[in-house]
Amino acid sequence: MSLKEKLDPNRIPRHIAIIMDGNGRWAKQRGKLRVFGHENGVKAVRATIEAASKLGVQYLTLYAFSTENWQRPKYEVDALMHLLIRSLHRELANLHENNIRLHAIGDLDSLPKEAAKGMQDAIRKTAQNTGLNLVLALSYSARWELAQAIKNIAAAISKGELEPGNIDEHTVAAHLTTRQIPDPDLLIRTSGEMRISNFLLWQIAYTELFFTPTLWPDFNEETLCEAIYEYQHRERRFGMTSEQIGSENHTEL
Ligand code: FPP
Repeated sequence: MSLKEKLDPNRIPRHIAIIMDGNGRWAKQRGKLRVFGHENGVKAVRATIEAASKLGVQYLTLYAFSTENWQRPKYEVDALMHLLIRSLHRELANLHENNIRLHAIGDLDSLPKEAAKGMQDAIRKTAQNTGLNLVLALSYSARWELAQAIKNIAAAISKGELEPGNIDEHTVAAHLTTRQIPDPDLLIRTSGEMRISNFLLWQIAYTELFFTPTLWPDFNEETLCEAIYEYQHRERRFGMTSEQIGSENHTEL
């Protein structure tokens, strides 16, 4: 029985977020340039979207480019932007046919014009789709997002639209770029690194974390199922006790 067949179709995580890491090391192991790793990373992106969509995942968020990634050598940043533009051109029709709706979080204004326009067009074109919501984090960092939220909350206060005493968790969540998106149930990071790297810091308060040594270009349906299988055998208590949440969800691995 394959891992996929062992999954409980009624407990597929609604939202999976992925820190795609290890493209550079994957290329280096093959004596190639880092860009070769990113090119093969795009193949893993395609395979993961297809697998998540078939499994019935509702939201898939991919950390494609962080605010800190701008500090990489110019040729690598240019190559990543080029890959994004090319992938959007090549994949848009396919995404659309598969009823996938594209979203973006991050500072899209900081992207090269062609990349920002490509994203905006793709978001518009797929806006009515009702299948998988694919969220690309581009020029994104959680600290940037939180600073933006604070700025916008302060502006609402100074316009008299908001009372400081009324600010609560919902106010903050409503000012994040993810306001229309539920918090991730499962966060996967590839390549064996055990860090969050400034990704969705607010949203992952109760997210289950899964770290795999697999380098991103080798990530596929099998690795995704492995992560979901482990997720399905965790007990999510959200700060409560096992007894309070009922122990029927808890199965030993
Ligand atoms: C991390 O590997 C990966 C990235 C910084 C970029 C991820 C981008 C892609 C998979 C391709 C473009 C994406 C889309 C959505 C078209 P790394 O370079 O940090 O690897 P290393 O840690 O081994 O050096």
